[in-house]
Amino acid sequence: MDMAHEMERELSLEFVRVTEAAALSCGRLMGTGDKEACDAAAVKAMRLALSSVDIDGKIVIGEGEMDEAPMLYIGEKVGTGNGPKVDVAVDPLEGTNVLAKGLSRALSVLAVAEEGCLLHAPDMYMEKLAVGPKARGVIDLDRPIEENLERVAAALGKNVGDLVVVILDRPRNEGLIADVRRAGARVKLIPDGDLSPAVAVGFEDSGVDVLAGIGGAPEGVLSAAALRCVGGEMQARLWPVSPEEVERAKTMGIGDIRRKLTMDDLVKGDDVIFAATGVTDGEILRGVRYSGVWASTHSVVMRGTTGTIRFIEARHRLDKKPEFVRKRVR
Ligand code: FBP
Repeated sequence: MDMAHEMERELSLEFVRVTEAAALSCGRLMGTGDKEACDAAAVKAMRLALSSVDIDGKIVIGEGEMDEAPMLYIGEKVGTGNGPKVDVAVDPLEGTNVLAKGLSRALSVLAVAEEGCLLHAPDMYMEKLAVGPKARGVIDLDRPIEENLERVAAALGKNVGDLVVVILDRPRNEGLIADVRRAGARVKLIPDGDLSPAVAVGFEDSGVDVLAGIGGAPEGVLSAAALRCVGGEMQARLWPVSPEEVERAKTMGIGDIRRKLTMDDLVKGDDVIFAATGVTDGEILRGVRYSGVWASTHSVVMRGTTGTIRFIEARHRLDKKPEFVRKRVR
């Protein structure tokens, strides 16, 4: 199938509707402290919205294995079945804790690519290094971070001291954080949600230049899909914490767990569409705003084949939406 022809413009808009539905549905639960409820609302809405999209899709990155996740599990068929055969990676709510606490950078995300083109990443950790288009081709995860930062700075026409490097604030990233500080770059430690800044490094005016450190592998593949569309780059390496995870990776087709994963391993080819809607405010997307029967959303949708990037602001009449989106309208 030639996705350049099959997955045309109209599908891009359909995918944004899907992430909008998820964001509208879970955004209401901001600050409730109930991360399960936040996630459940997003998953349910995304699944319902996906069911009417004309694709013959299969979830390759989703909510988990069939036996542990009733919806959007890995292997689940999604879409009407009429349309291109595609692999679908979803994160209906990236940042469950973030939304439950009302913090920044929660997103609803979807990436769709030709069958077999997205890495079937197991649900484990991944070491990541991501940059925007101007620094594509200069990074190497095998080299020290200091050297990478020097090369990125040169590619961006900046000094190392000008760079903003985003890193998840976790003990496992402490060594890296110390190295980045020693190199003299500015550091932005985040409590959760490394997908949003990984997308943001693809945009020059986002205020962040590099995403580095160990976070979730599924989020890594979704980040790579976005960077593929904008012409950026990500390199990665799985970071298992148990022998079971090493085995798990093997059964998912990743034999050499220590192998450096390049863009072609993460997202093969340009036939990819990435859509995201802000749930809470982030570097490039605003969160959902509600006002009576109205709500507004801010989304981005990009296509790798054409390189088109669209930011979409939408105003929604909640009283005219299906029940799963409009609940709690007063
Ligand atoms: P969830 O949406 O599943 O809660 O993930 C949020 C997140 O912060 C990701 O952005 C990140 O990649 C991962 O979790 C980090 O995992 P951990 O919290 O275990 O360090």
